[in-house]
Amino acid sequence: MNDVLDKIKRFSKAFNAKLPAFFKKTEGYEKRVIEAMEYAVLNGGKRLRPFLVSECAKLFGKTEDDAFFAGVSLEFLHTYSLIHDDLPAMDNDDFRRGKPTCHKAFDEATAVLAGDGLLTYAFEILADSNYDEVVKIKLIKLLSQGAGAFGGMVSGQMLDLYAENAKDEKEPLKLIENIEKMKTGCLLKYACEAGAVIGNADDEHMKALCVYARKIGQTFQISDDILDVIGDEKKVGKTLKKDEAQNKLTFVSTLGLEGARQKEHILTTEAKDALHIFGDKAKTLRDLADFIVEREY
Ligand code: IPE
Ligand code: IPE
Ligand code: MG
Ligand code: MG
Ligand code: MG
Repeated sequence: MNDVLDKIKRFSKAFNAKLPAFFKKTEGYEKRVIEAMEYAVLNGGKRLRPFLVSECAKLFGKTEDDAFFAGVSLEFLHTYSLIHDDLPAMDNDDFRRGKPTCHKAFDEATAVLAGDGLLTYAFEILADSNYDEVVKIKLIKLLSQGAGAFGGMVSGQMLDLYAENAKDEKEPLKLIENIEKMKTGCLLKYACEAGAVIGNADDEHMKALCVYARKIGQTFQISDDILDVIGDEKKVGKTLKKDEAQNKLTFVSTLGLEGARQKEHILTTEAKDALHIFGDKAKTLRDLADFIVEREY
């Protein structure tokens, strides 16, 4: 466990060092929105999604550098989703990654545009990357599907808002699983798919990684919901105990704290089992599955 945490920390240090180069300084009228994009992206974030891209690509003999552009574009797109998720019209949050949220540090209109800028930039980075043309098109297609409104992250966010008012929902567990699958699961699935695409994986190996991704996607959101209730605000870097206050449908509100924990443990075993075809090569991904449920931030 500590081993994988060290790996994540070493990875994010190297990854973060390369990010400022993506935000060229400008004195033009667009200066403010670029500063807001940079503010939201830098100095914070676990960088779990780019780490996943890299670890999955490594299973196929590729390197951390080979995974870099897919990782950056995904992290920028993920950061856009956080900026918009925090807006007053959505979750109305004041803290993110241990700092004031983008709209608090700047203003709402700038935060909307900073999100738009990062979303668009994600695809520009992929288009400009040095992947071969077939890999590039596959990545662009998978990322746009995973992030989008037709069963992707945007649909999950829509359903999350709808569920705030769905008190009499007959099958709340089904609804929360559907929300999580889209709002959180899709981008984590993309992280694994991207690693597999970069590694030219065959269908069997791609499928195995998708099963793993589905399982850790769920545990990732369950632990996010648990941390909202019992986490340490300083470590998590966001205002906690907000889900209940905002009447959110979560795994904890549906299953209770113990039920949510039990579900995580079953899913973690299933996630690790899905990796059997990779043998010892997938040790870090197995450890990552444990880290996701034991994490304190
Ligand atoms: C938070 O994601 C939003 C969810 C999808 C639950 P992370 O917990 O990965 O946030 P950062 O990137 O580390 O800040
Ligand atoms: C956010 O889910 C998912 C996305 C941003 C797509 P949450 O609303 O639970 O995430 P936090 O708790 O604010 O990080
Ligand atoms: Mg939300
Ligand atoms: Mg939120
Ligand atoms: Mg949350």
